[in-house]
Amino acid sequence: QRVIVEKEVESTNKLMKELGNSLPDKSVLIASRQWGGIGRLGRSWSSPEGGLWFSLLLKPQLPMEELPLITLTMAAAMWEGLYNHLGIEVKIKWPNDIIWDGKKLAGILTGVKGDMDKVDYLIVGIGINVNNPIHPELKGIGLSLKDVVKKEVNLNYLLIEILNCIQKYYQLFLTDKREDILIINKEQSTLLGKRIIISSFKGKEEGFAKDIGNDGSLIIEDDNKQIRKVFSGDVSLKE
Ligand code: BTN
Repeated sequence: QRVIVEKEVESTNKLMKELGNSLPDKSVLIASRQWGGIGRLGRSWSSPEGGLWFSLLLKPQLPMEELPLITLTMAAAMWEGLYNHLGIEVKIKWPNDIIWDGKKLAGILTGVKGDMDKVDYLIVGIGINVNNPIHPELKGIGLSLKDVVKKEVNLNYLLIEILNCIQKYYQLFLTDKREDILIINKEQSTLLGKRIIISSFKGKEEGFAKDIGNDGSLIIEDDNKQIRKVFSGDVSLKE
């Protein structure tokens, strides 16, 4: 495992994707700020100084179908890390948002290098709003940890706690002991038991969020009472 610390990069996910071949499993790349941070679904991710922006390199032997579970594994680890370190119980919005008071504290972006048949490695990017200001356009959507706990949070200690939890949950994932990962994601879910709207390339669709599958999918009941699995897309609560 190697840890690389940078002052400023375009995106730790992008750089890790380039370096992945020459770095060992579980390497970590951290930057104080990113000028081209990337979010899910092609969005940009505001990453000023004061936040925790890092990417993890993972080289597991696993089939593509297991990928959705990696994001849930990381979400469970973040949940526990934040609980251990700050005593707060955050919510998880499937599949990758860490939520407090309806606002986004952190996000997870899982990328792959390789193709469908052969995954070379995974890049798991984690962005946590810690002491950084929230971009004016994102007020009402995003939130920093310092505003939750009403004090500045030490970035290094928080990072260590979260990496420890990631190590623990990743090991559970690899050894097929996945109950806790699923339990945390279900119990802390902002979506389960609610009516939701799923936006994807197919358009918008309404449904009822019933469960999270063992494969990491969101199980929904659509308006024709059909049960379906959703693997990706933008999900929001129907107000
Ligand atoms: C999302 O919720 O849309 C995912 C956000 C992921 C942001 C992190 S910050 C570190 C890493 N580098 C990036 O460019 N993105 C991820």
